[in-house]
Amino acid sequence: MFYISILLQLLLSAAVASWSVSYSPRSICAIERSSVDFSCTFDYPHHSTLKTTKWFKPEAHQNQDGSQVGISVYNSEAAKIHQLYKNRTAYANKDKNCSLQLHNVSKSDTGTYFFRIETYSLYGKYTGPGGINLNVAVLPFRVTMKTQKVNGHIHEGDSVTLTCSTENCTLKQEPFAWFKNQHLIPEATDSVLQITSVSHDDFGNYSCGLKNNSSATSADEILLDVRYSPKNVKIAVFPSGKIQEGNSLTLICMSNANPAVTNYSWFMIKEAYVSYIGSDREFSIKSTSQNDDGQYFCTAKNDIGSQNSTAIALKVEVPSHRNVLLTATAVFLFLMAVLLVMFGLIIRRKRFTSKKQPTEQTPAVTVTEEIYENLRKSPESEENLTIYVTYADLRLPPSTPDRPRCNSQEDGTVIYSLLSYKD
Ligand SMILES: *[C@@H]1O[C@H](CO)[C@@H](O)[C@H](O)[C@H]1NC(C)=O
Ligand SMILES: *[C@@H]1O[C@H](CO)[C@@H](O)[C@H](O)[C@H]1NC(C)=O
Ligand SMILES: *[C@@H]1O[C@H](CO)[C@@H](O)[C@H](O)[C@H]1NC(C)=O
Ligand SMILES: *[C@@H]1O[C@H](CO)[C@@H](O)[C@H](O)[C@H]1NC(C)=O
Ligand SMILES: *[C@@H]1O[C@H](CO)[C@@H](O)[C@H](O)[C@H]1NC(C)=O
Ligand SMILES: *[C@@H]1O[C@H](CO)[C@@H](O)[C@H](O)[C@H]1NC(C)=O
Ligand SMILES: *[C@@H]1O[C@H](CO)[C@@H](O)[C@H](O)[C@H]1NC(C)=O
Ligand SMILES: *[C@@H]1O[C@H](CO)[C@@H](O)[C@H](O)[C@H]1NC(C)=O
Ligand SMILES: *[C@@H]1O[C@H](CO)[C@@H](O)[C@H](O)[C@H]1NC(C)=O
Repeated sequence: MFYISILLQLLLSAAVASWSVSYSPRSICAIERSSVDFSCTFDYPHHSTLKTTKWFKPEAHQNQDGSQVGISVYNSEAAKIHQLYKNRTAYANKDKNCSLQLHNVSKSDTGTYFFRIETYSLYGKYTGPGGINLNVAVLPFRVTMKTQKVNGHIHEGDSVTLTCSTENCTLKQEPFAWFKNQHLIPEATDSVLQITSVSHDDFGNYSCGLKNNSSATSADEILLDVRYSPKNVKIAVFPSGKIQEGNSLTLICMSNANPAVTNYSWFMIKEAYVSYIGSDREFSIKSTSQNDDGQYFCTAKNDIGSQNSTAIALKVEVPSHRNVLLTATAVFLFLMAVLLVMFGLIIRRKRFTSKKQPTEQTPAVTVTEEIYENLRKSPESEENLTIYVTYADLRLPPSTPDRPRCNSQEDGTVIYSLLSYKD
C-alpha cells in the first residue's frame, strides 16, 4: 500500500513536470515605441536536458498556431536571433522563467509570439500552445461611442460608453486622459469612459490620450450630442437698470437647449391676470409707460419639452425732472391763485371806493366790514386753527371834516390783515 502511494506520487509528479508553457497575458496591445512584457513560465520532464530556449514569431504567410517556427525573436543561441530583434529583447533566463521583454515595438512587431523548448532527446521539443498575441497601437487615438440606441438621438438618462482606441487595438494598461471640450476630466483614467446616465452637462466634444504623453492624443473629437429640453430659461432686460418712462425696452428669453428652442412665448401678469403677449425670442416695447408695469415671464420650447422662466417685475419710473416740473407748476398755480385773490380784493376795494364818492358813505367802515366777513371763525375749533394771513394795502381817501378818521395816521395808508381760518 505504502509503495503504491509512492509510485502514484512519482507518476503524478512526472505528469505535472511534463511539458508545459504558460503565458500571461494572452493578448497585448502596445503603443508604438513602448516596451512590452511577455510573462511566461515553463516546465519539462526531469529526465530531459535543455538544449535551446527560444521565442519565435510565425511569419505573416505561415500558420499562426505555432506549428511552423518563424523568425527567432529570442534564442539561447544568440547568433540565431533575427536582425529585427537583436538588442531589443531581455530574456529572464532563470529557472523555468521564460519571461521576455521587447523594447521599442513597432507596427511590424504585430503578430503571435511562442515560446519553445528543445531538449537533446529526439522528440523532446515543445512549443507552448496559443502564444501571446501582440497588437501595436498605431497613433493617433480615436474615440468611439456606444449607446443602447442603435439609431437615434441620445437623451438625458441614456447610458453612453466612450472608448479610446487606435485602429488596431485598445490599450488597457496605460493610464489614459480624457478631455471634454479640451478640458481634462481628472477622474477618467481608463481607456473606457462610461457614463451610465447622461445629463445635459455631458454635452460636448470628447477626446482622449495618454496621461504621460501629451503628444499621444486622439486626432478628432467626438460630439456627445445629448438632447434635452430647455434649461435655465431666464429673461435678460436691455438696457439694464431703471426703466425710464418713454424709453425703449427689450426683454430677451435666454435658455440652454438641444436642439435649439423653436417656440418662444411671452406672458404678462397684471393683477393676477396672465396674458399672452408675444412669440419671438425678444419682446420689445418701443416707448415704455406705466401701463407696462407688471410681471413678465417667457416659455422656451423645443422638440423635447419646454420650460418657463421665473417671472420678473418691471416698474417704469416717471422721470425725476417731470416731478420737478410738476412741483414747479403746482407752486406757480398756487402763487397765481394767491395773486388772484389779492387782485380780487383790490378790485373789490376799488369798486367800493368808486361807489363811495357819490353816496358819501364812510368807506373805512365798509371795508372793515368786508374784511371781517372773511373771518369765518368756528368757535369750537379755536385751539387748532391755522391762520392764513394776507396783507392788503388799502389807500383811504384823505380825512375830511365831514368824515372824521378814527385813527390818527396821517398818511392815510392802513394795513389790514385778511385773515382766514382753517381747522
Ligand atoms: C546592439 O547593441 C550593441 C551595443 O550597444 C551595438 O554595438 C550593436 O550594434 C547593436 N546591434 C543592433 C543590431 O542594433
Ligand atoms: C521572471 O523573470 C522576470 C524578469 O526577471 C521577473 O520580472 C518575473 O517576476 C519572473 N517571474 C517569475 C514567475 O518568477
Ligand atoms: C525604435 O525603432 C524605430 C524603428 O521602428 C527606430 O527608428 C528608433 O530609432 C528606435 N528607437 C530606439 C530608442 O531604439
Ligand atoms: C493595424 O492597422 C493598420 C492600418 O489600418 C492595418 O494595416 C493593420 O493590418 C492593422 N493590424 C492589425 C493587426 O489589425
Ligand atoms: C465641437 O466641435 C465642433 C467641431 O469642431 C464645433 O463646431 C463645436 O462648436 C464644438 N462644440 C463644443 C461644445 O465645443
Ligand atoms: C506611460 O507610463 C506607463 C507607466 O507609467 C509606461 O508603461 C508607458 O511606457 C508610458 N508611455 C509613454 C508613451 O511614455
Ligand atoms: C509620445 O507620443 C509621441 C507620438 O506617438 C511619440 O512620438 C513620443 O515619442 C512619445 N513620447 C514619450 C515620452 O513617450
Ligand atoms: C411652434 O412654432 C411653429 C412655427 O413658428 C408653429 O407652427 C407651431 O405651431 C408652434 N408650436 C407650438 C406648440 O406653439
Ligand atoms: C408655464 O406657463 C404656462 C403659461 O402660463 C402655463 O400654462 C404652464 O403650466 C407653465 N408651466 C410650468 C411648468 O409652470
